[in-house]
Amino acid sequence: MSTPRPLYSKDAAAALTQRERAHQRLHERIRLVLDRLGECESFLDIGCGSGQYLRAVAAHGVPHIVGIDESSDRLDEARRACPHAELYIARADELPFADRSFDVVLAAQVLHEIAIFGRPGELLQVLREIRRVLRPNGRFIALDHLDPGPGQVRVRLPQPVRSQLDYFAQRYQFRRISVEEYGDGTLWLSRRDLQDFVTKIWALGTAIEALEMRETHCPFGREQIETLLKEAHFSLREWLAFEEISEDLKEHGIELIEGTSWPRKFLCVAIPFPCGRRESAPTSSAASTCAVI
Ligand SMILES: C[S@@+](CC[C@H](N)C(=O)[O-])C[C@H]1O[C@@H](n2cnc3c(N)ncnc32)[C@H](O)[C@@H]1O
Repeated sequence: MSTPRPLYSKDAAAALTQRERAHQRLHERIRLVLDRLGECESFLDIGCGSGQYLRAVAAHGVPHIVGIDESSDRLDEARRACPHAELYIARADELPFADRSFDVVLAAQVLHEIAIFGRPGELLQVLREIRRVLRPNGRFIALDHLDPGPGQVRVRLPQPVRSQLDYFAQRYQFRRISVEEYGDGTLWLSRRDLQDFVTKIWALGTAIEALEMRETHCPFGREQIETLLKEAHFSLREWLAFEEISEDLKEHGIELIEGTSWPRKFLCVAIPFPCGRRESAPTSSAASTCAVI
């Protein structure tokens, strides 16, 4: 079977690296990950991209730092960010490591790409690979976009942002963007359409636009992630929903007229449970956005 081509062209990889470096909330994301490393001697970052987490985890004092990515262009950036990390060109569904090699495995913003662009069943295979390379008392940290669910909101956009929405609606291919206009200049649109729009404005007109128009930033709900983790023999220990959409709206001068803000990212921590044993404790049904299980 031939290896699929990496998702990112050289120019798209460069555009994404620029975005990752400039992202205002990157430090908060890194802090959330560092706070959850626990006793960690060996760390693997799946889809490490430009190596921002590798660099931070190395600076945190973890001695053995490893990153994989399917894109050699992205790994060039990672090498610059964290020169002493071991880096491999590899796909996440076939990790080039022995069983039980790592204390912590991170997958930051890569699972949605595998879910959308991978072959059927690939995401589950990736989770099984992660479980295989984790030590029995290791932990898996996943961070990704969160589906805000159905429902509509009413917003008011400044004129330049309104023009960007028209442009986005014309080019977005993942689904049809539906905007209902009111005479008073306000618009109704779905939470999902708004989330995809505001989180992809940065990509419009750049080398990564075409790729961003083919995927959604509303890929997973909590139930879906819990089901996948169970199927891959993980037990969910923590679920955190964070990064309020209101911050993105503020950044672009968008006013939320009807509807309330929601968190647009999740971070979860899962631990492997022994093969052949069913998970005994049920996962929390707490409705809070942050639950330690
Ligand atoms: C959105 S970027 C996230 C980069 C980094 N983890 C971060 O959060 O800053 C996703 C990365 O995953 C890589 N990637 C996508 N699918 C992959 C796969 N199946 N196997 C390995 N890497 C993959 C891409 O090349 C890209 O560098």
